[in-house]
Amino acid sequence: MAIPHPRDVQLAVVNWLDERYPFTKAIDEAMYQRVPNFANAFYYCFGGMVFVIIVLQLLTGILLAIYYVPDARGTPAAAYTSVLFIQSNVYLGWLIRGVHFWGANILILMVLLHMARVYWTGSYRAPRELNWMVGATMLLLILAFALTGYLLPWDTKAYFASEVTIKIMGLPPPPQLGAFIKTLVQGGPVVGPPTLQIFFTTHVFLLPALIVLLMYVHFRLIRAHGIAEPL
Ligand code: HEM
Repeated sequence: MAIPHPRDVQLAVVNWLDERYPFTKAIDEAMYQRVPNFANAFYYCFGGMVFVIIVLQLLTGILLAIYYVPDARGTPAAAYTSVLFIQSNVYLGWLIRGVHFWGANILILMVLLHMARVYWTGSYRAPRELNWMVGATMLLLILAFALTGYLLPWDTKAYFASEVTIKIMGLPPPPQLGAFIKTLVQGGPVVGPPTLQIFFTTHVFLLPALIVLLMYVHFRLIRAHGIAEPL
């Protein structure tokens, strides 16, 4: 029996899949789109940069989570020593942690530049208001990422900085509402092990799920409307 050429095997597999679901058509539609010439200006790159950095944050975050221990009990706490271990013992741990840290900072800068571009070109106007709102929600999610991630090393700086931000969250009137928010975020009367547990769960499960979902909506809306003509 003659050995089939690898390309024929590839074609047979693609055809088999396409008969069951139109993959080729769906991928073609997703990948190939004419982009207007004005979108070649450098300031149209910021949204894409935000996307690339978020992917990088997800990847480095998964690697950090392999060694990070979200446990604030004991002195020194496992959370603290696990971060030290990543920094000094894990192979390239310092690099992964450094990329995650600087990624977080540059991400905020890029989102602000992206927003400024959208504002500058007037692209928030009808019919793109909904996408502006989706974007603004993602901005809040990114700030929540930064806030919850800051506590995770569980060192003195992380502890007292988070205590301040949580205190601020307890300020909205009436006092009962502020106290409720504060207790909810803190997981008790003071910043302690339950706080770390809540921040960790929010940082690695809740926020990534929400931002991936909203990025999908953001990109579907961009595709639905096309890039806006600048004012
Ligand atoms: C996770 C964060 C975000 C990602 C990954 C993202 C990504 C993108 C990308 C790739 C584009 C295509 C054009 C470009 O790159 O400039 C875009 C367009 C847009 N973004 Fe974002 N964005 C994010 C956050 C935001 C924020 C914070 C806002 C505003 C509050 C926003 C509002 C918009 C609007 C209105 C458009 C349509 C602009 C047009 O049609 O010219 N986005 N976004």
